[in-house]
Amino acid sequence: MARPAAQDHCDGRCLIGLGDEDWGEMAELKVVDRDGIEHSIEGRTGISVMETLREVEWGVAAICGGMCSCATCHIYVEGDWMQRLPAPQPDEKELLQELSGYDPARSRLSCQVQFEESLSGLKVEIAPDE
Ligand code: FES
Repeated sequence: MARPAAQDHCDGRCLIGLGDEDWGEMAELKVVDRDGIEHSIEGRTGISVMETLREVEWGVAAICGGMCSCATCHIYVEGDWMQRLPAPQPDEKELLQELSGYDPARSRLSCQVQFEESLSGLKVEIAPDE
């Protein structure tokens, strides 16, 4: 995909530090931060939601780097988006259930959610720190 001409406003790519070599398909990701502020950013597809969220200042820590062992990438999936995601694997579910902020209807680990173009418009909320 050819990189579009430079724009005179930030469309979110600057927030996640993409260089020319990193350019890939992008899709809209709506994120409510821990202050309740909703952001609309461009998330790179083909990688986990966590990879985008850990690059923004108000995003997730993701200290295990996506190994499904820290739960610092906990998000709440909004609306009916939860039904459109593949079900969590047992290890993800087990880790989520240990969290005080676990919500069975909305909780996911963002490192285990692959972001695809078909998920453009996905809305998530960053869960409180544990
Ligand atoms: S980044 Fe550690 S569990 Fe997701």
